[in-house]
Amino acid sequence: PKLTKTQSDLLQKAEMIKENAYSPYSNYKVGAALKAKNGKVYLGCNVENAAYGDTICAERSAICSAIADGCKPGDFETMAVSSNGKNFSPCGSCRQVLNEFGQDIDIVFEFGGEIHVNKLSELLPKR
Ligand code: THU
Repeated sequence: PKLTKTQSDLLQKAEMIKENAYSPYSNYKVGAALKAKNGKVYLGCNVENAAYGDTICAERSAICSAIADGCKPGDFETMAVSSNGKNFSPCGSCRQVLNEFGQDIDIVFEFGGEIHVNKLSELLPKR
């Protein structure tokens, strides 16, 4: 689809912040940019750990930053996510965590060489 200015700005921010990923184990970099209705943009990247399962995903990193800044459920508009892989979409755990804060959040991501914009409710239906 043709992205709105908000969506393309967020995707650009996600592309930039993924360069800060700490991912020496997978070499997979992910960045997330989350826009809240207060106009602020919260950034996140994946942070891996020698205990692999303790890794924090980019999307959850961004949402935690927003909540720490005072955002509440229902406060979010759009999240853009970018990775250095070909086929990326937010993992099941991130979908579940985001679900807590708004089924109508627009998620922008690149999958199979195309940009997709889906409501969280489409990525995690029947919740
Ligand atoms: N990763 C994310 O940051 N978000 C996702 O939705 C999927 C996976 C990270 C976790 C790990 O550091 C790397 O990508 C490989 O799975």
